[in-house]
Amino acid sequence: MQTVRARLYDYPKYYDAIFGADCKAEFDFLRAVFRRYAKRPVRRVFEPACGTGRLLVKLAAAGYAVSGNDLNPAAVAYCNRRLVRHGFPATASVGDMAGFRLARPVDAAFNTVSSFRHLESEAKARSHLDCVATSLAPGGLYVLGIHLTPLGRRDCDRETWSVRRGRLAVVSRLRSLGMDRRRRRERIRVTFDVSTPSRQLRLVDEMTLRTYTAEQFCRLLEATSALEIVATFDFGYDIGRPIRVDDRTEDVVYVLRKRPRPSRRPTAVPSAGAPDNRPV
Ligand SMILES: C[S@@+](CC[C@H](N)C(=O)[O-])C[C@H]1O[C@@H](n2cnc3c(N)ncnc32)[C@H](O)[C@@H]1O
Repeated sequence: MQTVRARLYDYPKYYDAIFGADCKAEFDFLRAVFRRYAKRPVRRVFEPACGTGRLLVKLAAAGYAVSGNDLNPAAVAYCNRRLVRHGFPATASVGDMAGFRLARPVDAAFNTVSSFRHLESEAKARSHLDCVATSLAPGGLYVLGIHLTPLGRRDCDRETWSVRRGRLAVVSRLRSLGMDRRRRRERIRVTFDVSTPSRQLRLVDEMTLRTYTAEQFCRLLEATSALEIVATFDFGYDIGRPIRVDDRTEDVVYVLRKRPRPSRRPTAVPSAGAPDNRPV
């Protein structure tokens, strides 16, 4: 088998074979969350770091107006081709989730598979949350799925998935190569073993992800006062089973809601003759 060092996101067809194979649970969950927690009807949705658009296309087919961005042009092209093939406009664009602006506010945004951890600094993570908050209409939601770093030992530091799509078979292996908790970095290796009738190929990628304990994530969120946590779930995506996040939690889907605009109360004007003795 030929082995190639590669950036896996440059191979959207293989990425999608693995991660797009079964997204029904995520799709059903997102819709249930939109219905239950948004303070407005959800019609327009945005996915930062949308990748191949595996969820966007399903949401478009369900009647939502969808759009997304991603840093990787190959993923964006794949996503747009797929949207167009299904009869929808090509609404994915190349862009950085740490610095974007939408032309019109959306009712919900989502980011479910820890893509947020690609943002390598606190400043970028904060900027991302600010961009999302600015893009949401008041009462709108941001559904953010992330693997947290538990304070003790982790249950598992490797995962394997395999899938067959027609004559294409892909086996994906993810392994943590080590974590630097002080610098908040985790190095991971992901391999795709790809088999077609004419080709056997191993793609190997290594990437660095930022780490978050539950407390670090909450602190970050507090700095973005526009979003509040309204519910938390795990990657079982069961709307009937919210979870309580503690310092041992490993995967969590935060349902964040944009706070309503502060109401503008008229300032009290002291009446003539009654001196205003309030301290300044
Ligand atoms: C694990 S994939 C998730 C893709 C998609 N959200 C999904 O659920 O299948 C992570 C994606 O994040 C994208 N990405 C990484 N850093 C980014 C950034 N700063 N801005 C936008 N996209 C980014 C990668 O190109 C990749 O497509």
